[in-house]
Amino acid sequence: MLHALIVSTALLAVPALSKQPSAPEAFVAPLRDLSFGQLNFLHTTDTHGWHAGHLLEPSFSADWGDYVDFASRLREKLESEGKDLLIIDTGDRVEGNGLYDASEPKGLFTFDIFREQHMDVICSGNHELYKQNSSENEFLITAPAYADSYLASNLDIRDPSTGEMVPLAHRAKKFITKQQGIRIMSFGFLYNFDRNANNTVVERVEEAIKEEWFQTAIRDREIDLFVVIGHSAIRSQEFDLIFKAIRTVQWDVPIQFFGGHWHIRDYRKFDSKSYALASGRFMETIGFQSISGLSTNTTKSRSSPSFFRRYIDNNLYSLYHHSGHNESTFHSDRGRNITKAIAEARTALDLDDTFGCAPRDLWMARAPYPSKNSIFSWLEEEVFASIVEDPARRDKPRLVISNTGAIRFDIFKGAFTKDSTYIICPFTSGFHYLKDVPYEQAKHLINLLNRGGEIFENVDPSYAMWKLVSPEQINLKEDMIAPTHYSDSSSQISLSSDVSLTPGYTTHDDAGSDGDDTIHSQISFYRVPNCIQSTVNPDQIGMNDDGIVVDVVFNEFIEPWILLALKFLGLDYTEGDVDKYMPEENLTTLIAKWVSENWSENCGH
Ligand SMILES: *[C@@H]1O[C@H](CO)[C@@H](O)[C@H](O)[C@H]1NC(C)=O
Ligand SMILES: *[C@@H]1O[C@H](CO)[C@@H](O)[C@H](O)[C@H]1NC(C)=O
Ligand SMILES: *[C@@H]1O[C@H](CO)[C@@H](O)[C@H](O)[C@H]1NC(C)=O
Ligand SMILES: *[C@@H]1O[C@H](CO)[C@@H](O)[C@H](O)[C@H]1NC(C)=O
Ligand SMILES: *[C@@H]1O[C@H](CO)[C@@H](O)[C@H](O)[C@H]1NC(C)=O
Ligand SMILES: *[C@@H]1O[C@H](CO)[C@@H](O)[C@H](O)[C@H]1NC(C)=O
Ligand SMILES: *[C@@H]1O[C@H](CO)[C@@H](O)[C@H](O)[C@H]1NC(C)=O
Repeated sequence: MLHALIVSTALLAVPALSKQPSAPEAFVAPLRDLSFGQLNFLHTTDTHGWHAGHLLEPSFSADWGDYVDFASRLREKLESEGKDLLIIDTGDRVEGNGLYDASEPKGLFTFDIFREQHMDVICSGNHELYKQNSSENEFLITAPAYADSYLASNLDIRDPSTGEMVPLAHRAKKFITKQQGIRIMSFGFLYNFDRNANNTVVERVEEAIKEEWFQTAIRDREIDLFVVIGHSAIRSQEFDLIFKAIRTVQWDVPIQFFGGHWHIRDYRKFDSKSYALASGRFMETIGFQSISGLSTNTTKSRSSPSFFRRYIDNNLYSLYHHSGHNESTFHSDRGRNITKAIAEARTALDLDDTFGCAPRDLWMARAPYPSKNSIFSWLEEEVFASIVEDPARRDKPRLVISNTGAIRFDIFKGAFTKDSTYIICPFTSGFHYLKDVPYEQAKHLINLLNRGGEIFENVDPSYAMWKLVSPEQINLKEDMIAPTHYSDSSSQISLSSDVSLTPGYTTHDDAGSDGDDTIHSQISFYRVPNCIQSTVNPDQIGMNDDGIVVDVVFNEFIEPWILLALKFLGLDYTEGDVDKYMPEENLTTLIAKWVSENWSENCGH
C-alpha cells in the first residue's frame, strides 16, 4: 500500500514535506530538556488514527513521519554515546480519526503508515477488539509486522483460517539491549476488558498472572529490568497485581511500566525501583523515559537506579530541539515519504471536505457544563432536539439520551470537515429506542444514570459508570479551576521565560510538576455528567404525568444501563423490547447532517 502511494507521489512531484501541508507551525516556547540515561524509551499510546498529527493545533502538529525521524535521530545520537533507545506503543491505534475510519474497509491506509515506525514492544488496546475485523487486522497485519515485538500476555484470538483460539502474539519476550547489554523481560497486557467481539478472549489479569509461563518468566534471575507494557491505566488494579506478583519473587529488580487508556499524562511511583508512565492520547504526546544505574549482562549495578520522565508535545519545535537538529538536518527521505503517504491518504479519503463552519469553539471539558461553549449543551439544545427523529415516530414526545463518552474531541471554531465527524464521534453504533414508556418513570432515567453509580455497580461491576464518560474524565476528581501562572525556576528551561506562554498541558504526577517538556499556562477542566438528555415535543408532556408515554431513544452503547435503570424504576423491559431508531443513521452521520444544514452558511460562500 505504502509502496503504491509512494510511486504515485513521485509522479506528482509533491514538494518535500515536513509535517502535513495544512498543519500549523509550532510556536516557539520555553522547553525543559530531556535527560538521557543508560536506557531510554519513547512511548506512544491511544493514537486512535491521529497519525497525521493535529491540523488545527500548533502544539501537536507533527505527524507519524516526523516521529519516525525523531526516533531515528535520537537513536543515532544515543547509540553513538553507547546508550540504548527502545520504542513502545500501548495500543488503541484505531478508531477516532478519518485517516483510519473513513476508508472502506477501515484502516486501509493506517496499517502501512504505522508500521514504518520501528517498535521494540507493542500490544493491543481495547479498541482493536470491539469488532472482529479490527482484531483480525491485528492478527494478520500488525502482529506479523512486529513479529519480534508484539506481545499478547492475556489475549487470544480465533485464527480466521483454522477456527482455533490461539495467542494473538507471544506472551512475553526476553531480550538484551544492543549497546548496554541490559537484560530485559517484557510483557504486554490488556486491562480486564469485556466488551470485545466474540472472536477474541481477554484473560483477566488476576488469572493470567497465575499461569505457569508468567510465574516462570518472573522468576528468571538473569534479568536487569522488567518492562511491563499494557493497555491499562497505570493507577489500576491490573498494574497493582502485576507489580505485586513480580515483587513477591524478585524484591529488587527494577520494573518500568508503560500504560495508557485514560488518555492522560501521568507518572506513578510503585517503589524506589519501579515507575509507570502514561503518555496521553491522539499523537499529542510522545512520552520519554530514561533509566540509569541498571545492571547489565557484564556489570553489576552498585547504586540504586535513577528514573526520569518527560512528556514531549508532538511538534517540530520540540522534536528538533530534543534531537539536537534543525529543519535542514532533521528530516530524512524515509520520514518525508511517510508524511507524503499520509497526505495522499487524506486526499484520497476527502478528509478536508467541509460540511460547514463552527461559529465558536465547543469544548468537552474546557468549558463548564451546561454553557454556551459546552459541546454537550450544544448537542442537547441544538442537535438532538432537531435531528434525532425517526419519521415513523415523528410526533411522539421523546427523551433522547447519550452518554458523554460518545463524544471524543472538541470542535474548534472554523471548518468542520469530513475528518471532524470521525474525530468528534468515531463510533459506528446507531440509536435504539423503547416505545411508549410511562413518563412517570422515564423522567427519572437521566438522574439515575448520572447519580446512581453505586446501585448499578452493586448489581454487577460490568455496569461501572466510568465506562459512560470519556477516558479523560475518569481521573478528574473535581472541577479543576486553576490559576494561570506557573512557578518553575528550574535551570532546565532552555529559553528565557519572557516568551509568552501558550495554554496547554500542565501535568502534576508522582514526580512533581516538571514533567511537560513545554512550559504552558494552565487550562481549566470541568466535570461533565455521565449522560445528557434532550426532551423533544415537551409540550405534549404537560404538567400531569399520569398516563403519558414517551419514546426513550438512546445510543446503542448504553442499552445495558438503560434497561437496568428502568428495572430500578419498576419497569421490566428486555432487549427484545428494543428497536432500532433511524436505522440508516448514527450519531456520526447525524452530526454531519446537522452541521451541513445549520453551519454551511458560516463559511463565507
Ligand atoms: C472487514 O474486512 C474485509 C476485508 O478487509 C472487508 O472486505 C469488509 O468490508 C470489512 N467489513 C467491515 C464491516 O468493515
Ligand atoms: C552482553 O550484551 C552485549 C550487547 O547485546 C553483547 O554484545 C555481548 O555479547 C553480551 N555479553 C555477554 C557476556 O553475554
Ligand atoms: C459470535 O457473534 C456473532 C455475531 O454476533 C454470532 O453470529 C456468532 O454466532 C457468535 N459466535 C459464537 C461462537 O458465539
Ligand atoms: C542546521 O544545523 C546545521 C548543522 O549544525 C547548520 O550547519 C545549519 O546552518 C543549520 N541550519 C539552519 C537552518 O539553522
Ligand atoms: C522515498 O520515496 C522515493 C520516491 O518518492 C524513493 O525513491 C525513495 O527510495 C524513498 N526513500 C526511502 C528512504 O524510503
Ligand atoms: C437547523 O436546521 C434545521 C433545518 O434547516 C432547522 O429545522 C433547525 O431549526 C436548525 N437548528 C438550529 C438550532 O438552528
Ligand atoms: C455509522 O457511522 C459510520 C461512520 O463512523 C459509517 O461508516 C456507517 O456506515 C454508519 N452506520 C450506519 C448504520 O449508518
